[in-house]
Amino acid sequence: MRVSISGPDSLGVDAQVVALTVSNGGRPAGALGERVAPMLEADGFRADGGKAVLLHLPPDAGPERVAVTGLGETVDADAFRTAAGAVARLVASIGGRLVWVLDDSMPLPTAEQARAVVDGLVLGGYDPGRWKSNGREIELDEVVFVGGDDGILEVVERTLVVARWANRARDFSNEPPNELTPERLAAHAEEIAGDSGGRVVADSFGPERMAELGMGSFGAVAQGSHNPARTIVLRYGPEVAGNGVVLGLVGKAVTFDSGGISIKPALYMEDMKGDMAGGAAVLAGMGAIAELGLPISVVAVVGATENMVGGGSFRPGDILRAANGKTIEVVDTDAEGRLILADVLWYAREQGATHLVDFATLTGAMARALGDLYAGVFGNDDEWRDQVVAAGNRAGDHAWALPLHRRYRLYTESAFADLKNKSVRGQGIPVYAAEFLREFAGDGPWAHIDMAGTGFLTWPRDDYLMQKGGTGYGVRLIAELARSLT
Ligand code: BES
Ligand code: MN
Ligand code: ZN
Repeated sequence: MRVSISGPDSLGVDAQVVALTVSNGGRPAGALGERVAPMLEADGFRADGGKAVLLHLPPDAGPERVAVTGLGETVDADAFRTAAGAVARLVASIGGRLVWVLDDSMPLPTAEQARAVVDGLVLGGYDPGRWKSNGREIELDEVVFVGGDDGILEVVERTLVVARWANRARDFSNEPPNELTPERLAAHAEEIAGDSGGRVVADSFGPERMAELGMGSFGAVAQGSHNPARTIVLRYGPEVAGNGVVLGLVGKAVTFDSGGISIKPALYMEDMKGDMAGGAAVLAGMGAIAELGLPISVVAVVGATENMVGGGSFRPGDILRAANGKTIEVVDTDAEGRLILADVLWYAREQGATHLVDFATLTGAMARALGDLYAGVFGNDDEWRDQVVAAGNRAGDHAWALPLHRRYRLYTESAFADLKNKSVRGQGIPVYAAEFLREFAGDGPWAHIDMAGTGFLTWPRDDYLMQKGGTGYGVRLIAELARSLT
């Protein structure tokens, strides 16, 4: 798919479909809007969010097909994403060139409309059914925006790059765990580096090197699996950028989380192939940064492993030594994400990261608290945390700041070791996990994004993320955050 912009006279261009938006109680814009308004009225069209209809006009003048899509009551960027997602699915079997008419009478500026529409078309048109025998994917060839100023071209081109990388992250998340092993994920990282024209350098290492580095916490999670773990490292840009910032992106990539000896219940356990969504976001986010050519220095570290049950598995009661020297009593092998991140955060600091953000599907309780729309963001530095949250919200990856406090550490005190990996109290689970991570985040700003609810959908979200499975959460946030650091 390509994007371009054009003047209002191009409504007659040879396009397969022209798309018009309409808010609840409003009318579609322009002369074409006036032409179709009576047809909509006759059909009783309601401009509810995510509704879209295809009208066929007589072939005498102007476009033959017009897609009209509803924005609902609240006309914001998400309304446009959802409207565009509905259009993407409506015209999927038609393909070709789509003209999208921006409406400057809407409360959202036309550049923001165009940005949201690109998001909605690319993410809303995504098909997760790649493993179906009769699967077929039809992409639009081109989207032409009409009614915005010239400045929007740069915005839509950038948005297109990032949205495509978000879909790449979804592909990783949806890949089944028998195919997407830690080694296969490392191969994906190599591909990203290989396709970057030398901008991204990839490296990865396995259990032996991890043991040498003292990564006994991550290593313990990995030891129960026949598929060896990989610590995946990607580098982009100069060693240290001009502003002295080295952005450190850290990802949890559990390619399958059975829970280990503290095994999970069977219902929806198949969705635990998506427990690598944080790592997927980091890898694809790096791809987006490189394709945009942002003037910044980034190091990405992804901890990839399975969490399996076997004779070699780690157990409740085990005491682990993490790379930063702290000892951890395991009380629940299903709280494995924090054990992995403990060592991976340390390694990212070792590699020179000055500002850290980690992405992890860390706690089911996060999904229960904020659902599938907002991720919770914790941090040891309010300014950095707020910068991360703001970047997410600007880009469509909704984020909400949540608190840390030293007092939360009391419940992860262990009788035997420096700390234990879970509190016995069924309270504050995402906060305890974040407070645990803080012990390993080193000095300097760090933010932790618990994306358990947003990274992988058990049930479709019914907005523009209509598909079960990976959402690409985090990729748009990463690109926006990186841009804000330039
Ligand atoms: N990967 C899970 C968290 C998760 C659950 C993500 C549901 C997405 C959907 C994580 O490893 C886990 O099992 N967390 C435990 C933590 C608990 C043992 C403290 C959980 O959420 O139950
Ligand atoms: Mn788990
Ligand atoms: Zn997990």
